[in-house]
Amino acid sequence: MRSITIRRPDDWHVHFRDGAVLQQVVPFTARVFGRAIVMPNLTPPVTNAATAASYRDRIMSAVPTGVAFTPLMTCYLTDDTDPSDLVRGHAGGVFTAAKLYPAHATTNSQHGVTAIEKIYPVLEAMAEHGIPLLTHGEITRAEVDIFDREKGFIDEVLIPVMERFPGLKVVMEHITTKQGVQVVRSYRGRMGATITPQHLLYNRNAIFQGGLRPHMYCLPVLKREEHRLALRAAATSGEASFFLGTDTAPHLQHLKEAACGCAGVFSAPVALQAYLKVFAEEGALDRFEAFASLNGPAFYGLPPNEEKVTFVEASTFLAERVRVESEGEIVPLFDGEMVDWAQARGA
Ligand code: DOR
Ligand code: ZN
Repeated sequence: MRSITIRRPDDWHVHFRDGAVLQQVVPFTARVFGRAIVMPNLTPPVTNAATAASYRDRIMSAVPTGVAFTPLMTCYLTDDTDPSDLVRGHAGGVFTAAKLYPAHATTNSQHGVTAIEKIYPVLEAMAEHGIPLLTHGEITRAEVDIFDREKGFIDEVLIPVMERFPGLKVVMEHITTKQGVQVVRSYRGRMGATITPQHLLYNRNAIFQGGLRPHMYCLPVLKREEHRLALRAAATSGEASFFLGTDTAPHLQHLKEAACGCAGVFSAPVALQAYLKVFAEEGALDRFEAFASLNGPAFYGLPPNEEKVTFVEASTFLAERVRVESEGEIVPLFDGEMVDWAQARGA
């Protein structure tokens, strides 16, 4: 039976939501990952340091006793973001980064940025103060095919921003295409990328396999096989630009299995296992620690976690639905399947 011992990993892209859902989902992330970059797309969104600080407190109240976990907060950029609040929030240790949602690109992005020029003063301040920009990399014009939105973002928004603000560090979140891989490589050192488990495991056929599969719908949507293969090569390469970010995105079952279902895959309960499956299949377990535990902190200028954790390749637990009191259930990735790779107790 194979086993792997690595420094404790971090998750550089999570959605925790709020209220009863937050209480239920935080423990899954906190038990495995030392830190997580927390997305700010709540209703209303987390747009300033004061709301981020109180959101951080609510997250901490959901961390199980005895578990060491640090949420790293992000600021939701709008056309009206105040650069000085962002800079102060960053200097005061509240904000780690700021997130660009192009308006109407995804869940709760209606307050997002309507034109990139509107936030040039904010980007200027971020470059000056070393605040990383995290991007949801899709353009949203109605005439652009949904499968081409990432490529459009790279050409129309990302490259112009990289050229205009040479001091700005950027993470292209949840890359889904070979063009994404390519652009990240071309700005090595200044640009990083997170890659989700679902984009490594599935191509777009998974959304339509035998019928419509709402739990395979996320944004950016799954892409063609050639893109999945490019992502697998990037993630398992060990290159410093690519790191773990699950984009775990809980939605109640009835909101996904609906006429207009929400986007998002709830992967937190099985995320580490899903990535390990990919690395094992690719014969790249020796490069897993770089992807899961080293590259992310290095990009953000943080030390890697000290603690070591061991995972053993054994089929040991069932991916189960999560009950949220009086609201319903959340269906996880690998719903109802046995999952390989268990965290060794006490390790
Ligand atoms: O699938 C997604 N779900 N993509 C996003 O960008 C947002 C996320 C969510 O918040 O549900
Ligand atoms: Zn996300």
